[in-house]
Amino acid sequence: MRGNTAGVLEKRYASGVSEPIPVEAFFREPDRYGTDACALDHCRGRVLDVGAGCGQHALHLERAGHEVTAIDVLPEAVHIMRGLGLSDVRETSFYDMPGERYDTILFLGRTIGFAETLDGLDGVFGKCRDLLDPSGQVLLTSLDVGRNAVLADDECASAVSGYPGEVRFRFVYAGIVGPETPWLYVDSQTLSERVRRRGWGSELLHDEGDGNYLARLTLVAWRAAGAAASLLEEATMGRYVGTRTIAAPIESVFAYRLDLRNLPAYNPDVRDLRLLRGEPAAAEGSVYTFRLRLAPGIWTRAVLTVAVAERPMRLEFHIASLMEAREVCAFEPSEANGTESTKVSFDYTVKTRGGFFAPLFDMIFVNPVMRRQVEREMRLMAAQLEAG
Ligand SMILES: C[S@@+](CC[C@H](N)C(=O)[O-])C[C@H]1O[C@@H](n2cnc3c(N)ncnc32)[C@H](O)[C@@H]1O
Repeated sequence: MRGNTAGVLEKRYASGVSEPIPVEAFFREPDRYGTDACALDHCRGRVLDVGAGCGQHALHLERAGHEVTAIDVLPEAVHIMRGLGLSDVRETSFYDMPGERYDTILFLGRTIGFAETLDGLDGVFGKCRDLLDPSGQVLLTSLDVGRNAVLADDECASAVSGYPGEVRFRFVYAGIVGPETPWLYVDSQTLSERVRRRGWGSELLHDEGDGNYLARLTLVAWRAAGAAASLLEEATMGRYVGTRTIAAPIESVFAYRLDLRNLPAYNPDVRDLRLLRGEPAAAEGSVYTFRLRLAPGIWTRAVLTVAVAERPMRLEFHIASLMEAREVCAFEPSEANGTESTKVSFDYTVKTRGGFFAPLFDMIFVNPVMRRQVEREMRLMAAQLEAG
């Protein structure tokens, strides 16, 4: 399946410069280069490995517990990756990916080069924006040709743009000459300037010293929101307390609320719910993650922990997202119109960051939103339980 990994390919640039590439490099250990090792350490959440090649990084991440989608346009690469037993391998171009959301998008092995030109970066990062959770990150490796021993003094510059990283090369192996491929090597400074106009902030995470580097890109609007939140240090509590009687036995109401897999059924603002730790509907300590719609088109990632589960009387959930919330539900058996029922008392608190203005912020925004959401949840939950 791996063919002759002892062979050496020739990368022949249009300028005439030639670079030997050992086939083994395509099958290298996932952390062989400092840039790769650093990228793997920085991955979080759901990962899209773009141009995943022989799948070594995707496999490493899947074994570390990440949910990984590995894509490549080359059928041979996809065949090799399927042979590794990776759970989500797709033969597709990055540009054709459907609108799923990822926390990390990876372009290792200088894969960003398929942008071909500096202008091509706009298309790649436009697509990244569609596929990335707003709080997510893009991790990419590339090369500053001006600092690279093989390419620095070369005439790689494309006649059109004059940017030395817009190159063309062919692979040559055992006398077989491949087609000419346009490719982009972008230095970190130029990358940072190009993407800033499109709303991305970039930081250099690792520099190999020979022109190879790893950068992280995040959406500036998200970072600004985070920074603003941490500036407003003082925290107060927005609060909403209420009760509702549901015409269903206490055991089933408790079990329904404890099983967070039901959450999207009574809260339409919740998407992509996943169990991160513990057993579904089991007990204390289970941790879930989901995307939460804050306003039309604005989503955030939330992490929910089942903090207390005293069957069948009391549940307490802690929710961390832009704000931190605590939800306590107490259950009491009751009767309504001769039907066995349950009185649910709920107490929601939200830690509001807003310093001096927090009480005002609570009054005009947090409390009404919380009231609307809790009332809707209770109404939909009652409808589900009473229907069946
Ligand atoms: C330089 S290799 C890097 C492979 C691997 N990430 C690594 O670090 O070894 C670039 C990979 O990107 C793939 N590729 C090129 N254009 C692509 C596209 N538009 N969408 C997805 N993959 C692409 C190629 O087939 C190739 O496997």
